[in-house]
Amino acid sequence: MVYQIYPRSFADGNGNGVGDLPGITGRLTALADLGVDAIWLSPFYRSPQADAGYDVADYCDVDPLFGTLTDFDAMVVRAHQLDLKVIVDLVPNHSSDEHPWFRAALAAEPGSPERRRYLFRDGKGPDGSIAPNNWSSMFGGSGWTRVTEADGNPGQWYLHLFDAKQPDLDWTDPDVQEQFRNILRFWLDRGVDGFRVDVAHGLVKATGLPDEPAAAEPAVLAVATDEVSSPLWDQDGVHEIYRDWRKILDEYPGDRMMVAEAWVSPLSRLARYVTADEMQQAFNFEYLSAPWSATAIRSVVDSSLEVNNSVGAPTTWVLSNHDVVRHASWFGLTDLTVRPKGIGVGDEQPDAALGLRRARAATMLMLGLPGSAYLYQGEELGLPDHTTLDDDLRQDPIWTRSGHLQRGRDGCRVPIPWESDAPGLGFGPTGKTWLPQPDSYALLARDRQVGVTGSTLELYRSALGLRRDHRLGQGTLEWLDTPQEVIGYRNSAVTVIANIGDRPIPLPAGELLLTSDELTDSLLPPDTTVWLAP
Ligand code: NOJ
Repeated sequence: MVYQIYPRSFADGNGNGVGDLPGITGRLTALADLGVDAIWLSPFYRSPQADAGYDVADYCDVDPLFGTLTDFDAMVVRAHQLDLKVIVDLVPNHSSDEHPWFRAALAAEPGSPERRRYLFRDGKGPDGSIAPNNWSSMFGGSGWTRVTEADGNPGQWYLHLFDAKQPDLDWTDPDVQEQFRNILRFWLDRGVDGFRVDVAHGLVKATGLPDEPAAAEPAVLAVATDEVSSPLWDQDGVHEIYRDWRKILDEYPGDRMMVAEAWVSPLSRLARYVTADEMQQAFNFEYLSAPWSATAIRSVVDSSLEVNNSVGAPTTWVLSNHDVVRHASWFGLTDLTVRPKGIGVGDEQPDAALGLRRARAATMLMLGLPGSAYLYQGEELGLPDHTTLDDDLRQDPIWTRSGHLQRGRDGCRVPIPWESDAPGLGFGPTGKTWLPQPDSYALLARDRQVGVTGSTLELYRSALGLRRDHRLGQGTLEWLDTPQEVIGYRNSAVTVIANIGDRPIPLPAGELLLTSDELTDSLLPPDTTVWLAP
């Protein structure tokens, strides 16, 4: 089970209101205690933070905001002492516009080796003032920005599939390929156990950068599909890169791994990233996107297991991350079919109790499944999004680039609460937090839940303990015959029953191992999951 740490919001060691590496090191025992096997850290590299660190200005150094390389080494040592593996984020699709490579490209001539590291193109029209093609930025607006050349005149354009401060690298350039081999080795030499590969489906673009057939609606989480083949995503060439990287990982002792962040669909396309000579895992975003419906969940579990088994890779499961509204908030909304792109003042506010109840049931349903589960920091506390965050405080570039049409991802990125009565809820020593925490976080703080039977934290801890004891991750799934709105399966010696309908149901015989909420008269209430032993 991998636990995602979003460094700026996990724990603040120096009191400036932004989480950092010493803060993480100081809190690792809480994760070992929870039953975590590995941590994945979102980027902490040198960066102007235009996209919260997914805009990297130096791939081989820590941003002073988060500490130093020495702090990183200390964190890895501590994590390994606690038997926690460490996975770091690798952002190869784009760098920051403040990376020395991009600065050199701007200073150099069109056609120069410096420009060839990126996707610079001449514009269309007599004066080159029309963007080279119709591609959009996933954050809204055009995917192209025109530069001013050294002579002061408007010049070439460069591609950025995300913010203008995130120029896309050209992966056909041998120097880019070689630089990233060295970056992988740099972190492997420092002892990391693996990489989460950002935008893994985007590195290679179709030759000639042809127009998109239909101007796609910009979406942060772009999905490539078999049916709508896109010149931006899921090109065959990406697989050569991962085969190359796999050879590097295999040169190192221990089990070093890669996990793909690839929003591709259907799952059979995703399976191509986890063949024996590429990555070990890929995030299962079809599962994350599945509505709270028994039919939908059963179907995505089935297809996930089927395609992953076909390539011999473990299936993964995930319900929340730093890019989506937390599942405890989504499941409290009326429309359970579409996960909203941020929630703010004026939007429908989630029913917190219902959302939490369903989130707990959904998590137990997920943690019983064979494969590898990914958790996002704070979900073990039952945290919702901050859904009434002041719009003036928003920092996600999506908010501005979408012309304030999409609120973006700040709501799920708020500093997490450790101590109910401390300033800043114990996030750091001064009480400062880079985003304000909602009032609801005080009662959900970790110290309110430790040792409290029935708390979400204890539910997660028990589920993870049972998952480990029964080796559920390595097990196999066998569906049980259940009514339509009930999901029932057996994995090893554990039977999992989730009631997603609206009426209480009788339970099969068996010893109750764990329940996501109390039973009523021995019946399983709606939005509740139990684990039973024979
Ligand atoms: C996916 C990351 O998870 C997201 O946070 C980021 O904005 C984009 N990739 C661009 O790097």
